[in-house]
Amino acid sequence: MSAVRGVALLGATGSIGRSTLSVIRQHPERFRLVSATAHGRSAELVDICAEFQPDLAVCRTADEVAALEPQIRAVSPGTQLAQGPEALAAAASHPAAESVMAAIVGGAGLAPTLAAVRAGKRVLLANKESLVLAGGLFIDAVRTHGAELLPIDSEHNAIFQCLPTLAGGRRALAPGVRSILLTGSGGPFRTRSRAQLSAVTPDEACAHPVWSMGRKISVDSATMMNKALEIIEARWLFEAPPDRIRVVIHPQSVIHSMVEYDDGSVIAQMGQPDMRTPIAHALAHPDRIDAGVKRLDLAAIGTLGFGEPDFERFPALRLAYEVLAVGGTAGAVFNAANEVAVAGFLEGRLRFDAIESVIESVLQAIAPEPVTTLEGALDADRRARHEAARVMAERFAS
Ligand SMILES: NC(=O)c1ccc[n+]([C@@H]2O[C@H](COP(=O)([O-])OP(=O)(O)OC[C@H]3O[C@@H](n4cnc5c(N)ncnc54)[C@H](OP(=O)(O)O)[C@@H]3O)[C@@H](O)[C@H]2O)c1
Repeated sequence: MSAVRGVALLGATGSIGRSTLSVIRQHPERFRLVSATAHGRSAELVDICAEFQPDLAVCRTADEVAALEPQIRAVSPGTQLAQGPEALAAAASHPAAESVMAAIVGGAGLAPTLAAVRAGKRVLLANKESLVLAGGLFIDAVRTHGAELLPIDSEHNAIFQCLPTLAGGRRALAPGVRSILLTGSGGPFRTRSRAQLSAVTPDEACAHPVWSMGRKISVDSATMMNKALEIIEARWLFEAPPDRIRVVIHPQSVIHSMVEYDDGSVIAQMGQPDMRTPIAHALAHPDRIDAGVKRLDLAAIGTLGFGEPDFERFPALRLAYEVLAVGGTAGAVFNAANEVAVAGFLEGRLRFDAIESVIESVLQAIAPEPVTTLEGALDADRRARHEAARVMAERFAS
């Protein structure tokens, strides 16, 4: 077995963050937490520091540093507490971190994740929004800085496992691979008509039938925007032309995705719908370790179901392919408009079934440009957020 691996954890207080801590907790002989970041739930850093004794902890504001520092010093004297974008980048590029779990939600995750890439780290990518916002730029940086990308999204982690390994450990659509079959549970409203979606409440949208996740990604699953973001993520991660990425509805979420080969073989990866499996896979790669996950009992599951996605009831899927065809800043605009619309829905300012209309309006209003710099991508992100807020207030206020 290899030496203890240092792990930086961006987004330690979130759903993926907690699952990552659970796997690290189970394997102290393999992993050491070297840095951890929080945002709104900074107070939780005290317990994380007490248990894991990281070198660096990052919270949101200077006031929080002042309030939390004495508590953290008392439980973990070796931990430095810092705040702000530079501290996030420092956590991501910590010299003792061999692996960086990128689990901040939304576009806010791009800059720190890119800092990890530029430091040449092994990046465990949960923050799919980074690739949607600036896919080409991000992948170029991975190559230039010799970083390694391991997908955490269960679907992409499954595809990674089902694809052949190319030179340098790359996983891509090599000759002989026909297509990627991206599975999706269909979310909590899989069987509802479009008309039935108008009265959906935030709590209903966040009650996913299979997965337990943060609120933003739960709403994304309910609109199937999550699958839309994953189509774009797969395009960049696996160098896959959009017409070779197909979505398959699979309500049980036992098969996490599949790869179809020219000879007719379809290779699937199966497992419990528990994020500790892809997290343990990526943390230990290429070894395999116990993730603390219940064993899969296929006889108890009995039947697996599959269906076609409905692009009429879930227009986010159609928009994903359109965004890929347009390219450039369209991805950043798509992602930002969705974040603003989802926040509006969660705060009771937008009806659930207006989320995609806001996104489509913003895509139409902002002309796409090539993405050549991080600043360019972030500028498109800012303009799209502004436009989404305007469109919501003027045309879709609920
Ligand atoms: N949950 C899943 O099962 C799952 C599966 C696949 C992929 N993902 C992806 O993983 C990422 C995290 O998802 P999640 O469900 O874990 O989300 P979550 O539970 O909402 O956690 C998000 C994390 O990001 C931090 N954060 C939020 N805004 C931030 C900001 N502006 N700056 C710095 N940190 C910020 C949060 O800090 P506080 O909590 O302290 O506010 C929290 O630690 C997302 O990109 C999601 O798409 C999640």
